[in-house]
Amino acid sequence: MRLTYLGHSCFLLETARARLLLDPFLTGNPSASCRAEDLTCDYILCSHGHDDHIGDAVAIARRCQAPIICNYELGEFFAAQGAKTEGLNPGGGVDFPFGRVKLTLAHHSSSAGEPGGKNTCLGVAAGLLIHSGGKVVYHAGDTALFLDMALIGRAGLDAALLPIGDRFTMGPADALEALDLLRPKVAVPMHYNTWPPIAQDPRRFAAEAAERGHRVAPLAPGASLEL
Ligand code: NI
Ligand code: MN
Repeated sequence: MRLTYLGHSCFLLETARARLLLDPFLTGNPSASCRAEDLTCDYILCSHGHDDHIGDAVAIARRCQAPIICNYELGEFFAAQGAKTEGLNPGGGVDFPFGRVKLTLAHHSSSAGEPGGKNTCLGVAAGLLIHSGGKVVYHAGDTALFLDMALIGRAGLDAALLPIGDRFTMGPADALEALDLLRPKVAVPMHYNTWPPIAQDPRRFAAEAAERGHRVAPLAPGASLEL
């Protein structure tokens, strides 16, 4: 399984049977490593409705005929724009040909709307727990630290993708606490350095995690990790 960081919270996860695009935000993303128009995928997964997680979801879903897996209300919003969707809610999972996707808790908001128009709350923010080919990957979405991460960690995580940007999500100090609860084989930081308000030093975060016994592998946009 190959995990490629595309910038901000967007990843491409290539499993044996499908290409999964997580939180596609490329157009207007200063850290994006590629253009939305150049990506192909079989499924799209969205953690919540904020623009910096769904920006290119509908366009790619329609072009690739890729279903969008997300919370139910966000799914209805996408379906009204002509996308195929699979609606879930936290705690629920669905089996797909490539494996299983379960939505987890996340402590954050979820809203979306027309550009420049009114924003509407669309379901709750979630994390994405993906089982495929014997591997388990957890994309935390945008979230605060919460103690129930210990339950998510019981799935036995091969990789955890964790926000470290602070202001809108956990910052590095809470992400270190999250690592203690999740205990993944490797963690990849996300949701930082896209804009000045979420500037962080991923190398310092990795060094502090190493002192606590955790492996953190910061990826530059465009870089990949074999799991
Ligand atoms: Ni958000
Ligand atoms: Mn965000």
